[in-house]
Amino acid sequence: MAGQADLTPAGSVGEEPLAVRLGGLCLPNPIIAASGTFGFGPEYAPFVRLSRLGAVAVKGVSLDPWPGNPPPRVWETPAGLLNSIGLQNPGVEVFCRDDLPFLRQAGTRVVVNIIGKTVEEYARVAERLEREAGIDALEVNISCPNVKEGGIAFGQDPEHAALVTRAVRAVTDRPLIVKLSPNVSDPVAIAQAVAEAGADILSAINTVVGMAIDLERLRPALGAVTGGLSGPAIKPIALRIVYEVSQAVGIPVIGIGGIETAEDVLEFLVAGASAVMVGTVTFRHPRRMEEIIEALPALLRRHGFRSVNEAVGAAWPGRSGGGR
Ligand SMILES: Cc1cc2nc3c(=O)[nH]c(=O)nc-3n(C[C@H](O)[C@H](O)[C@H](O)COP(=O)(O)O)c2cc1C
Repeated sequence: MAGQADLTPAGSVGEEPLAVRLGGLCLPNPIIAASGTFGFGPEYAPFVRLSRLGAVAVKGVSLDPWPGNPPPRVWETPAGLLNSIGLQNPGVEVFCRDDLPFLRQAGTRVVVNIIGKTVEEYARVAERLEREAGIDALEVNISCPNVKEGGIAFGQDPEHAALVTRAVRAVTDRPLIVKLSPNVSDPVAIAQAVAEAGADILSAINTVVGMAIDLERLRPALGAVTGGLSGPAIKPIALRIVYEVSQAVGIPVIGIGGIETAEDVLEFLVAGASAVMVGTVTFRHPRRMEEIIEALPALLRRHGFRSVNEAVGAAWPGRSGGGR
């Protein structure tokens, strides 16, 4: 397949079965805390050894503080969570002063998720972060509305997605992850556009737009009316997008969406992900990421894989389907 990623040799890291290398980003294991579900780190420090995680992706950071959306902001659904937090955050200056120092000393890898309302805002956040040590990668959340284009999300149009990617690429040499939205008809077109514009790594997927009704009030349940669905309900959507995108682009893909167990992780790896991010399950089971890391080596062996990298893309057409 054209542009297919050959991750096995490039991705291998010594003899460590869980270690992965995604472009310039080296992680001791493929389990990353997903942006927005792990705060800035200290919130979970009493429950999880942050140094054990592959990395922590912090919640979205903007140029100026964002106040977020009116409440209610979260609503449980049978197999997932709807949220309309609205990317509330204190802005990049406060993040660098108050939050980054904790992460720097926590012994984990730090991915800073960046957000903006214009292309320039994204670039200015990335530029500000260049002055800071202790950041291992940037992750660009392109699901934000582009205020200069009537509010359509950057990630819904290949050209706008590429513009943001190029602008951030121009100001940083750090590994650059671009996070894809599932709310598009052709995720592969967006993936190819951002890869060409300079992304080193893709992450997929962000939440799926949805809504709920509160029958007691006969109103939309969320203050913002619509929200993003996460959790097990979106796993099949995420797997499909990871499977399609990872075969179409020549850069590593991080799989995200509804992961709750080590088995879920292995499904994403064989679908073509080189690592994963774990989000909503952490709210119910704060230790789950560590449990997955502990369970993964035996699970890989049971399926005939000597390492994470051997499993990547094993379900692609033309592959043997496993290490057996
Ligand atoms: C409460 C909440 C806040 C989130 N905030 C962000 C964010 O700031 N930036 C971002 O890129 N993704 C954000 N996400 C999306 C998650 O990182 C992830 O892509 C999504 O939840 C799917 O993974 P999961 O099913 O494991 O939660 C958020 C998700 C939730 C549930």
